[in-house]
Order: sequence, then C-alpha cells, then structure tokens
Amino acid sequence: MSYETILVETQGPVTIIRLNRPQALNALNSQVMRDLIDAFATYDADPEQRCAILTGSEKAFAAGADIKEMQAKGFSEMYGENFFQGFEKVTATRKPWIAAVSGFALGGGCELAMMADIMIAADSARFGQPEIKLGVLPGMGGSQRLTRAVGKSKAMDMCLTGRMMDAAEAERGGLVSKVVPAAELLDEALKMAQAIAGMPPLAAIANKEAVNATFETGLAMGLLFERRLFNGVCATEDKSEGMTAFVEKRPGNWKGR
Ligand code: CAA
Repeated sequence: MSYETILVETQGPVTIIRLNRPQALNALNSQVMRDLIDAFATYDADPEQRCAILTGSEKAFAAGADIKEMQAKGFSEMYGENFFQGFEKVTATRKPWIAAVSGFALGGGCELAMMADIMIAADSARFGQPEIKLGVLPGMGGSQRLTRAVGKSKAMDMCLTGRMMDAAEAERGGLVSKVVPAAELLDEALKMAQAIAGMPPLAAIANKEAVNATFETGLAMGLLFERRLFNGVCATEDKSEGMTAFVEKRPGNWKGR
C-alpha cells in the first residue's frame, strides 16, 4: 500500500511507518492523519505484524499540526469538523508501537509521539508544546499526556513558555524510555520492536491494556482490571506454553491464542 504523506515498510514482524513531508518538516495535515489512521489499522489487523515503529526524518519527527491548514479555520470549522479527533483512531491501536524521535517533535508532533506506547529519542530530539506562541494551546492531547508523563510543573513550564526540551531533559523527566545517538535511532528502535515482536502477542496486548488503565482509573479499579486480565490470559494456549517452556528450559513457541 502506498500513501501520499508516509512511507510504510515491514521488516519481518515489525511495521515501520515514516512520516514523509520533508518540505513542511512533517507537519501533520489532514492527509497525514488519514494516512496514519489507515497505516495503523492495517498494522493492527495483520496477524503477522507484532510491533510497529513510527518515525520521521533526522531533522524532524514532526514540527506540529499544519499551521497553514489551520490558519483560516475559525471555531465553527474546527468544532464542526471535530478537528484532530481522527487521531483517537491512532490511539485505538491495540498492538504495541514505538515512537522513534529525531529532531523536532513540536506541538502535534510531540503529542503524536506521546500517543505511542514507548518513546525513544535520538540525542538530537527537541520536544515542545509551542502552541501558546500561536495564540492557542495543545489540541492533540499535549496538556493531558505531557502532564501525566512529566508532572505539572514541567508541563506548565513547557506549555506556558513554549520552550523546547532536549533529549536528556526528556529522559530525566520520564518522557522517553531512552536516548540513543542519532545515527543509531532506527536500529535501536528495531531491536526493541523485535524483542516485543518475539513475545506472545495476546500477552503483549494485555500488558498494554493494563498499563494504559493507569491513566483511566483509580488504583483499586486498576488493580482489579489487571488481576482480571491476568486471570483471563491464563485461558490462553500461550500461557500454558510459556510456563511449560520455562519449566522445560526452552524458548516458548507462541500461537497467539
Ligand atoms: N505547519 C506548517 N508548516 C510548517 C510547520 C508547521 N507546524 N513547521 C514548519 N513548517 C514549514 C515552514 O513553514 C517552512 O516552509 P517554507 O519553506 O514553505 O517556508 C518549512 O516547514 C521549513 O521550516 P522552517 O524554515 O521554519 O525551518 P527552521 O529549521 O528554520 O525552523 C522550526 C524549524 C523551529 C521547527 C520551525 O519550523 C517552527 O517553529 N515550526 C512550527 C512549530 C510549531 O509551532 N508547532 C506547533 C503547531 S500547532 C499544533 O501543533 C497544534 C496542536 O497542538 C495539535
């Protein structure tokens, strides 16, 4: 499948989705949104694919929502179209995916990266929510996800000053799981994705659902949800295989059921 604004390839069980609007530093317009929705749905539906990577160029993961597309839109158009709502379809992806960020991840770019299950950054990465400088605020989840990731004070700092945060600060703040040299970003992301792809696929989805429940529930309900999921995956063949393989001191052979 070929797209207008992204490139998609597979390497074994890993889908690599690359934002590809170099002339606009991968700014996220409606076409990018439509392409991403389709690419993630295709990944999610393909039983051979076990992990995905979303990346951009060396200079920019994405420099934000497309300002030129939004420039002439007023409240009626934005509200009527429920602008940005389509990205919720990307976050509905059930299988794991990693954002591999090099260069600018600003505004919607930072917000898109934060939709990932895991973010890894090149040492060149720059994160920011500069929307205030345009007279607006984050619109793709930044005020919520950034605050959950780095806490109130740093999120306020980023949103109110519009400054950029470098990769080291992002790692210290817990926004990214690790920082790697820029030249090794895709290799490192692939290593991580291959490791995830080698796990029992239903358990991968269950682990993702359980961690994500943290952001939707209180502790008691979250613990109950986790315990019930645990009880549930005990009905899978992969659970029997995983525990038998451990006892027999051999690798598991996963069936995905
Ligand atoms: N939308 C549309 N076009 C963009 C863009 C964006 N977000 N970011 C960059 N571009 C375009 C520029 O207009 C320029 O195009 P032309 O060559 O046609 O002029 C091209 O990409 C290259 O950009 P620059 O010349 O500005 O590159 P630079 O290296 O000098 O600066 C930058 C890089 C600091 C990232 C700068 O481009 C910039 O500040 N971009 C905007 C960042 C921003 O404000 N993002 C938030 C957008 S709003 C948002 O995202 C809302 C939301 O929450 C969902």
